[in-house]
Amino acid sequence: MNNYNFDTLCLHAGYKPDEEIGSRQVPIYQNASYIFKNSEKARNLFALKEFGYIYSRLTNPTVSVLQNRMAALEGGVGAVCASSGHAVQMLTFFNLLKSGDEFLASDKLYGGTINQFKNSFAQFGWKVKFTNFDDLQRVSALINSNTKAIFAESLANPGGNVSDIEALAEIAHKHAIPLIIDNTMATPYLCKPIDFGADLVVNSTTKFLSGNGSSLGGAVVDSGNFDWAQNNKFTLLTEADSSYHGLKFYETFGNLAFTVRGIAIGLRDLGACQSPMNAFLTLNGIETLSLRMKKHCENAQAVAEFLENHKKVEWVSYLGLKSNKYHKIASKYFKKGFGSVFTFALKDGYTACEEFIKKLNLFSHLANIGDSKSLIIHPASTTHAQLSEAEREKAGASSNVLRVSIGLENIEDIIKDIKTAL
Ligand SMILES: Cc1ncc(COP(=O)(O)O)c(C=O)c1O
Repeated sequence: MNNYNFDTLCLHAGYKPDEEIGSRQVPIYQNASYIFKNSEKARNLFALKEFGYIYSRLTNPTVSVLQNRMAALEGGVGAVCASSGHAVQMLTFFNLLKSGDEFLASDKLYGGTINQFKNSFAQFGWKVKFTNFDDLQRVSALINSNTKAIFAESLANPGGNVSDIEALAEIAHKHAIPLIIDNTMATPYLCKPIDFGADLVVNSTTKFLSGNGSSLGGAVVDSGNFDWAQNNKFTLLTEADSSYHGLKFYETFGNLAFTVRGIAIGLRDLGACQSPMNAFLTLNGIETLSLRMKKHCENAQAVAEFLENHKKVEWVSYLGLKSNKYHKIASKYFKKGFGSVFTFALKDGYTACEEFIKKLNLFSHLANIGDSKSLIIHPASTTHAQLSEAEREKAGASSNVLRVSIGLENIEDIIKDIKTAL
């Protein structure tokens, strides 16, 4: 199945209708538990000697289809789905870090992720160091013997910074640690981080993958390429686990160790499982991912070009514009387009931004991206309101900056709405 092209995988990967009922659509298994065929089967399932279904906090057939589909789309060996993008980030590091360990992250990340890493992860004793990933020498210099991973977004939200995945993978592997890429803004339609050496890929499926703003969710895909036993840094995967009678995940499950531990321990103990209904809705969204992403990119390109030539606009930061700092490197990593989310600045500042939003009819003013509908937010008065102007500027969210997520409406209607409001 996984030999098919991307568009075909979006529709079929991970699911084959069963012979008896033959439901063409993936069924929603809206149940908590599963009857064991016999005692031996129950014993084997609990001891991880057999894979199957015990309880939906760990595994559920509808969620399993989404896991397998995500693994196929990203080109990995396995995936764990969780209740949100943030939940999956937590599960990812839960497989890698013990209290006192640290990791290195780009300072150009979604604001919620910066908060999660800086504040909440600190409660587990996980330490993060942020730095500018455009400076690869600095990235190398900040890695020490306690650093267990490197984390970046393929395309950063909201700044549109592009990570040099190949170079980051090289640095990570030189230090025998994995590279984790958040591929939410690009989706596997635009960028396949594993092809460039990433070891783990996380996605908030809440955005373009589900595609209509209906379902929270997240997925982490394991490339299956990282050797967890090459040093003694990843003992959670390599050493005996007392909650499974001394089972060693890497020794027992090989390149599925990360995925199996993510489910058997991560979902079991942190409990951040994805609901079957959300998995179903996300699978429906993924069916049209290619078509939607193509139109998202075309519409965004047209809007960016319109804005770039408007006298009230100070600058536009869209990868598809030749003027963009990352245009060249983006052409290497994003072969089919440059995404739909970008920022631009109005010459007249803070109040002009608020006025502009008030006058828009088609755009929804809200804190999300990747909906089929066009969305807008003014970071300085919302998501970044608690920061100082200097901090906002560093985060690419100065007072006069707006972030848009361009939807699938007719492009003439989108541009007319913007033109009128400006
Ligand atoms: C790039 C990126 N990663 C992760 C997340 C977190 O995802 P979720 O909202 O599904 O928890 C977001 C949310 O906006 C995001 O934009």
